[in-house]
Amino acid sequence: MHIKSAEFVTSNSDASKCPKERLPEYAFIGRSNVGKSSLINMLTSRKSLAKTSGRPGKTQLINHFIINQNWFLVDLPGYGYARVSKSTKKVFQKFITQYFEQREQLVTAFVLVDIRHKPQPIDQEFMQYLGESGIPFSIIFTKADKLRPKAIENHVEEYKKILLETWEEMPNYFITSSSKDIGKDEVLNYIDSLNNS
Ligand code: GTP
Ligand code: MG
Repeated sequence: MHIKSAEFVTSNSDASKCPKERLPEYAFIGRSNVGKSSLINMLTSRKSLAKTSGRPGKTQLINHFIINQNWFLVDLPGYGYARVSKSTKKVFQKFITQYFEQREQLVTAFVLVDIRHKPQPIDQEFMQYLGESGIPFSIIFTKADKLRPKAIENHVEEYKKILLETWEEMPNYFITSSSKDIGKDEVLNYIDSLNNS
């Protein structure tokens, strides 16, 4: 899919204030610092459309970007960031879960996980939550540039094995690197196929 235009629309912490247009929407969620905002920049080939940082907790609001004037990418704050005070963390969780519960135009969520790590309890809990809420999701492994191809294969196999202890099948997944432009066409083609289905 060719991205002709990608523009920032709104930022807010209230799901009811998100854009009213009933356009297909795709949201990126995962632990702080996993690379959600970087992935949005990679997918859109815009270096700083979404704000990124080496420090976790950069994205604090629900950010909508409109693509080709006919669908939305949504950059969300990370979860599981220990340095955010407990009360702030709760607010994040509430508006994130409200977003997922209220956004009827959400086609699918992408749960980002760092390819170097084993399944983390918080990621598994979030996937469980999505499953129970009937929200379709895919897994996006990020930072694939940090591992050699053989290690990527091993890590994915290991990840699958652990997920299959609780899931009947491995969710659909993608292997990506925002710094090396890996996985871009696969994710965009998948979104394109959903937009056209
Ligand atoms: P929060 O908004 O804080 O939740 O983080 P985020 O998930 O949006 O992560 P962000 O995109 O801001 O990236 C976090 C850090 O990881 C930055 O230093 C990025 O440069 C780095 N990073 C993101 N993607 C990749 C990648 O594919 N490869 C490598 N090597 N680094 C990456
Ligand atoms: Mg971010």
